Amino acid sequence: MKRRYSSHYSWRRAHSIDELAWMARQRLPAFAWEYVHGGSEDEITLGDNRRAFAAWGWQPRTLIDVETRDSRTRLLDGPAELPLAIAPTGYNGMLWRDGDIALAKAAASRGIPFTLSTVSCASLEQIAAAVPAVRLWFQLYVLDDEAVRNDMLERAKHAGAEVLMVTTDTVVLGRREWDSRSYLNPRRLAWPYLLDAGLHPQWAYRALWPQGLPTLGNLMKYLPREQQSAGSAAGYINQRMTRRLTWEVLADIRKRWPGKLLIKGILNAEDAREAKRIGADGVVVTNHGGRQLDGAPATLDALPEVVDAVGDSMHVLLDSGVRRGSDIAKAVALGAEGVLCGRATLYGLALGGEAGAAHAIDLLKDQLHNVMAQLGRPTLGQLDASCLRRLPYASTQGDSPQRPSDALPGGETPGDMP
Ligand SMILES: Cc1cc2nc3c(=O)[nH]c(=O)nc-3n(C[C@H](O)[C@H](O)[C@H](O)COP(=O)(O)O)c2cc1C
Repeated sequence: MKRRYSSHYSWRRAHSIDELAWMARQRLPAFAWEYVHGGSEDEITLGDNRRAFAAWGWQPRTLIDVETRDSRTRLLDGPAELPLAIAPTGYNGMLWRDGDIALAKAAASRGIPFTLSTVSCASLEQIAAAVPAVRLWFQLYVLDDEAVRNDMLERAKHAGAEVLMVTTDTVVLGRREWDSRSYLNPRRLAWPYLLDAGLHPQWAYRALWPQGLPTLGNLMKYLPREQQSAGSAAGYINQRMTRRLTWEVLADIRKRWPGKLLIKGILNAEDAREAKRIGADGVVVTNHGGRQLDGAPATLDALPEVVDAVGDSMHVLLDSGVRRGSDIAKAVALGAEGVLCGRATLYGLALGGEAGAAHAIDLLKDQLHNVMAQLGRPTLGQLDASCLRRLPYASTQGDSPQRPSDALPGGETPGDMP
């Protein structure tokens, strides 16, 4: 049956992440929607991430007691209610006032880790003060200024971050053409987008009132006074992102960081082995949610070789394209310790702040428990390759979205917007 979503009820009754996405599309101004939803160039990798999940089917067992299902697990050696953590995403305050704090609270209330981005609106110190109960992970964009980099590591330590996640796939930004359309140089919204933002007073109230556009909390102390607005700060960070990020730099960060170190940006066995060589504790198999190199492998396709190479001695997480509990189950069955989600909780955040993000996590958890029951595998340890079968026909042509944008009314693509 084709998906039909109704705008007559609240996001609290949304049944799936795609439905939350559809609702968020209605609520957000075009520039914010494109920022969350879009990928780079032709969005081939963005779509492949979903197709890779859809290419796996299940091999269920029957007549097994599934009265109790248990999705509790350990991620990076700490407890988690399900094999899920919130991925680092920048500018969350553009979707909801204090969006980072709302996401961290949702993660804490649902018992999963939360990753704060370098380019978050709330600072490390604000998160530590506002949500002391959350398992805090910190994502580092490596800047060309070593003093800034080392200071951020110190701040992360003091804020109680237990995991440092270094992102390695953004030495240059992918070409996100919607982004170039939205903004003029120097970075400010182009007038059609400004006009459109003005037509979304509910969003403006929830995200911008009373303080206006949010700034980048972690970077404020390093930014020249005239570059502290969100727009200027974005320009600064793009310029200062080091293009000389090498394994030697990572080895140096390893020496300085006493906690767990995750490398986010791995898509093959060779790089996973290098990560192990420099002493990282784990890797995130990711293509940045299809926002960087278009044509890069779908992460579920890349996962098995990474697990083969280092899975017995490192933590292997995956992200990009997780929209259902069954996606989590597939990644675990193929050897991932767990997954991160970026957009899934952002759609919820854009609709209902902390409660909306928590609703997205609840949906993923319910769906995961449901699929575990139907599979006859009530514990995560039973999810392995024996549960899976490669689908023999083009199931991806069926009801699964070809691209996330196909879930939108009329098959709009972000590029169709004003
Ligand atoms: C709006 C948005 C902002 C993001 N910002 C960051 C960031 O600041 N740092 C980072 O390492 N990854 C960032 N990512 C990538 C995510 O951490 C993650 O890899 C990706 O969202 C996973 O794909 P998914 O959105 O399909 O779950 C961002 C992704 C999105 C959608």
